[in-house]
Amino acid sequence: MQDLPVIATSDLSAHVGRTVTLRGWLYHKRSSGKLHFIELRDGFGTVQCVMARGDVGDDVFSAADKVTQESVIEVSGEVKAHPKRAGVFEVAASGFRLLGPTVGEYPISPKEHGTDFLMDHRHLWLRSRRQHAILRVRHTIIQAIRDFFDGRGFTLVDAPIFTPNACEGTSTLFETDYHGDKAYLTQSGQLYMEAAAAAFGKAYCFGPTFRAEKSKTRRHLAEFWMVEPEVAFMDLDGDMDLAEDFLCFIVERVLERRRPELAVLERDVGKLEAVKKPFPRIRYDEAVALLNEARAEKRKAGEPGVPDFPWGEDLGGEDETILSSRYDRPLMIHRYPAEVKAFYMKRDPADARLALCVDVLAPEGYGEVIGGGQREDDLATLERAIETHKLPPEAFRWYLDLRRYGTFPHAGFGLGVERSVAWICGLPHVRETIPFPRMLNRLAP
Ligand code: 4AD
Ligand code: MG
Repeated sequence: MQDLPVIATSDLSAHVGRTVTLRGWLYHKRSSGKLHFIELRDGFGTVQCVMARGDVGDDVFSAADKVTQESVIEVSGEVKAHPKRAGVFEVAASGFRLLGPTVGEYPISPKEHGTDFLMDHRHLWLRSRRQHAILRVRHTIIQAIRDFFDGRGFTLVDAPIFTPNACEGTSTLFETDYHGDKAYLTQSGQLYMEAAAAAFGKAYCFGPTFRAEKSKTRRHLAEFWMVEPEVAFMDLDGDMDLAEDFLCFIVERVLERRRPELAVLERDVGKLEAVKKPFPRIRYDEAVALLNEARAEKRKAGEPGVPDFPWGEDLGGEDETILSSRYDRPLMIHRYPAEVKAFYMKRDPADARLALCVDVLAPEGYGEVIGGGQREDDLATLERAIETHKLPPEAFRWYLDLRRYGTFPHAGFGLGVERSVAWICGLPHVRETIPFPRMLNRLAP
């Protein structure tokens, strides 16, 4: 057995007709008298190994009979292509060894488990076919994100995780003690990317961000990954063009490389294939008008107590779903009332009530995946905004320097990785989109 090549299940196609060795974990096993069907999992995939008593002898056959789920095994045998299903292979086992102790009863069996139970066993749950598929799609999305920016002249500039300033409002800050000073876990690297845009023209950061979200929702994590590009001399229109190209690139890459995983997830890939330029772009005002049309319909149908959407309020999750389900591709909503947005947003010169910002909503009701816009570049206006938002001015002194020393128009956005994975994989909740989720009631495993 020693001199046989040890291969991965992902390389089976190159070894059809040859005898090889595979190592991994026993994923599943069934037996029928003279045959064992052993499904071996090696991290790259799984393969069915068919073991006939006549081929391996009584001792090996009965040893294989006693092997339990997730025990570590080695199987040797000839690789065979499935006669009917392209890309499916089998191994006709001629050798078998247990490589470690026999595993006791494995907590995750093929029977149904509740979500809490599975989340408590997340460290083991990762091995299952579905979770494996989701995290491989995540990997490909992250790789696509880097390739997109790296291929367009952006410089990666890492933002710090400990920060003295709040970027996205003070209500979701995780506070920590920093050698006797108050510090926060970063909510966004944006402010640092604005410094980076002045230094590098086009910059991006990509890292974990933290929000102490006090509510349990299917779209919020306490720790999530965000990629944030920032570009000098780009306006809101340029920002929307960039976001549009970016999302098309990511979806295309996943369709190109992760069809088998999307099939495991039973994702309707037709919905992803529809994600093509141009994306619809509507103003907040138009969004409100559309919502009011929908509400008027409801009133006409006799539903009581349906008021008009109050202009000036932020869109809620349900409003977003109503709006985005009108289109087959991501929807861009721009120029929200400045009051509901962050302090750094540039006001629309054509209507000072509005901010030059954009939210990109994924189709099929998956919600906001991108938030961004043009930044206020006027020193006095920004100073006033910091005051109205009741932010501590001393924490923003360095940020205001960017307006003192060579202020410039610039824009950028942030894409949440987990919401993007949820959308592309077709998952109703973000908890399965990150290896070890951190949520309101979950810090373990
Ligand atoms: O819209 P947000 O809050 O924008 C910012 O943080 C900007 N500073 C980004 C920028 O312009 N550089 O967050 C951006 C994205 C959201 O669209 C969403 O996808 C994701 O981050 N996000 C979350 N994802 C999971 N859990 C949470 N609690 C999230 N909060 C935001
Ligand atoms: Mg947002």
